[in-house]
Amino acid sequence: MNANEIRKKFLDFFEKRGHKIVPSSSLIPDDPSVLLTTAGMQQFKKYYTGEVDPIKDFGTKNAASIQKSFRTSDIDEVGDESHLTFFEMLGNFSFGYKPGEASPKGGYFKKEAIEYGHDFITKEMGLKIDYVSVFEGDKEVPADIESEKIWKSLDKNIVVKKFSREDNFWGPTGSEGPCGPTTEIYVNGVEIWNMVFNEYYCSGGKLEKLKTPGVDTGMGLERLAMIAQNKKNIFETDLFADLGELPAIVDDKIKRIMLDHCRAVVFLVSDGVRPSNKDRGYILRRLIRRAVAHFHKSARGPLGMTGLDFADIENLLVKIIEKYGSFYKELNRDAVLSIFREENDKFRLAINNGTRELKKIGALDATIAFKLYETFGLTFEIIKDFGGEKAEMLRREDFDAELKKHQEKSRAGATAKFGGHGLLLDTGELKAKDEAELKKVTRLHTATHLLQAALRKVLGNEVRQAGSDITAERTRFDFTFSRKLTPEEIKKTEDIVNEVVHKDLPVGFVPMPIEEAKKTGALYFFKGKYPSEVKVYYVGHSLKDAFSKEFCGGPHVNHTLEIGGFKIIKEETVGAGVRRIRAAVL
Ligand code: ALA
Repeated sequence: MNANEIRKKFLDFFEKRGHKIVPSSSLIPDDPSVLLTTAGMQQFKKYYTGEVDPIKDFGTKNAASIQKSFRTSDIDEVGDESHLTFFEMLGNFSFGYKPGEASPKGGYFKKEAIEYGHDFITKEMGLKIDYVSVFEGDKEVPADIESEKIWKSLDKNIVVKKFSREDNFWGPTGSEGPCGPTTEIYVNGVEIWNMVFNEYYCSGGKLEKLKTPGVDTGMGLERLAMIAQNKKNIFETDLFADLGELPAIVDDKIKRIMLDHCRAVVFLVSDGVRPSNKDRGYILRRLIRRAVAHFHKSARGPLGMTGLDFADIENLLVKIIEKYGSFYKELNRDAVLSIFREENDKFRLAINNGTRELKKIGALDATIAFKLYETFGLTFEIIKDFGGEKAEMLRREDFDAELKKHQEKSRAGATAKFGGHGLLLDTGELKAKDEAELKKVTRLHTATHLLQAALRKVLGNEVRQAGSDITAERTRFDFTFSRKLTPEEIKKTEDIVNEVVHKDLPVGFVPMPIEEAKKTGALYFFKGKYPSEVKVYYVGHSLKDAFSKEFCGGPHVNHTLEIGGFKIIKEETVGAGVRRIRAAVL
């Protein structure tokens, strides 16, 4: 039974039993307390608490879904036979159970949930349950005797094991939410189905009874396919085996990392995640860079000697999109390939510079590793992988501690410097006092780069930045030019900027030595004082064919559509040969 058949079987089974089939929600969750969607129940949190009425939305209190899920906790384990970052979770759910009232109006609870689970596994899938587990009870939450009884009523010989809170209590996701005791189904020694009886709401570590309990179940498709297809590990199932062989790769561990990470990249990018140095963007960046680095290492020897060849990875990405695209219509080939290529370009530069530096260094401690990260964008994993013996003593906790220290320092620095005003950002050029302003200023900042490039297109290369000042309201850009602009020139400039905004070009940067940076043709502020190492920010798919490139310290948007729209408000003179434009983003 292939994965497509399993997905269909699962959804049909629950549809026949009065469940509304709900599409997977995005990997970017509504819930701000988590970076990525980790469970099927996440999109349903508000139905459990009664804030939203399921009958109104679904016509029933019961739902089933196949949810795209991502768990960062397993990221370092990927490479063995069972760990994944991205996976698909089959789940059935019931909200607002009313005892005595028939399902679907009354929802359902333990009896139906366990019956469904038992019937699906034994009758539909034809598998034999090894044993099940239930919650043994503790001071706060009583033992789940009811579930044990229900299991025995379905199969008097079934083995029911009792486990503690650690194994048989689930939730909440993020900082708060529904949670409760679980019962779990084991087949061939593998835990395949987790059924949660959401009786509680957990907040600040405290459990409170929910007004009405609910059911939340989750079964990893990969594990179920492994059992159903009688395979030794998940990578032998059609979910991965159909993706073909990776020609140059010999090592199983690396192969699995490639398969997992590339699959995750396809789904993350298609849901709108973009590589960055923060939050989910950083997760994506790590996945891409780790996949590329591993591939390269195994296939062609030490980095920097042969240059990178990504054709095999790109083929893999395309195969993933083809295989999964029939079920997940959102998979976006163009976005995946262009983001992947662009991140590789950055990585290639980072790694060339970074590994050169790495070779020079005697021993690597967390402080030096963090510097490599800051200057060259080498992630912890890459430093570990490429540092060889030098990096043996380097530990993630220490690296993370450096990162935290650094973040705290820059926050403290900003506050101290601008004391009473509590400015979040003040580079001299950019000013913002809170997160909302920072967002606006960031959009205006990228727009200002586009403005300079557009002015040079319309007026010629005489145009060069003479100064700028950006607040949340507007950008003020001074540039060298000898006469007043005509209304047509202003309109044309504005149109060019908006055209680039709507093309949704990526924005990125590469750190490089100043002399090398000057050779790229990037613009810089003549009066500016630059360190020996600068960042070249560029708007476009690569540095070479970028629409705009400038020396800059950021921050910028990740891609131009974030700017929204661009409007020139005023054009005036500020002295001989210098003009000033004020502009806003919409
Ligand atoms: N929400 C439960 C889990 O993720 C079912 O395991």
